[in-house]
Amino acid sequence: MTESVAPSLEPDPAHAGLRFRRPAVHDHARVLAVIPGWWNLPGTADLGRLLPRLFFQHFADTSTIVEDEDGLAGFLIGFRSASQPGVAYIHFVGVRPDLRTSGLARTLYERFFDAMRASGCRRVDAITGPRNVGSQRFHRAMGFEATGDTEIEGVPSWRDYDGPGEHRVAFTRRL
Ligand SMILES: CC(C)(COP(=O)(O)OP(=O)(O)OC[C@H]1O[C@@H](n2cnc3c(N)ncnc32)[C@H](O)[C@@H]1OP(=O)(O)O)[C@@H](O)C(=O)NCCC(=O)NCCS
Repeated sequence: MTESVAPSLEPDPAHAGLRFRRPAVHDHARVLAVIPGWWNLPGTADLGRLLPRLFFQHFADTSTIVEDEDGLAGFLIGFRSASQPGVAYIHFVGVRPDLRTSGLARTLYERFFDAMRASGCRRVDAITGPRNVGSQRFHRAMGFEATGDTEIEGVPSWRDYDGPGEHRVAFTRRL
């Protein structure tokens, strides 16, 4: 298999010591390895199944990997919709637990927003699970609004959004 090149990205003055770059295919296994520990929620042991290798092959130019001397520091997997060119979508974001609340996910999101705006997007969507309260609070702090057809675990959610029993909270934000 041919290994893809992983272009470096501009450093961020607010995050000294962190290196930003595009993902390469070899990052797939590294990201899958951290998901259970970083999410650390009941029922998320298999969450990596929602992030197959194809994201690292075909969505690398709109996704970001962050590293420091301890390894993987964070990642964002996002893309511009193929069928709705004015819409961007953030599929996964994660920050290593010891680096949380320092604004790294905000930086990853804002860099993605800027790139998507520049490519003509006017809206960004994301979904999360009804039990992932931390993610819901993060998305609200980032200016997203939740939609839903019912209430699950006290939050607006779409019942069976991704199949039977796979309820989701859908977030949207204007760019
Ligand atoms: C959600 C997550 C990515 C946030 O990363 P982070 O780097 O700690 O977030 P930031 O420091 O950039 O926070 C940005 C804003 O969100 C808020 N926020 C982040 N996590 C929050 C939480 N758990 N509860 C309440 N607010 C939160 C911050 O207070 C901050 O608000 P402000 O800028 O208005 O002060 C991180 O907690 C994580 O990796 N969680 C596990 C994976 C996950 O659930 N991913 C999302 C679903 S794909």
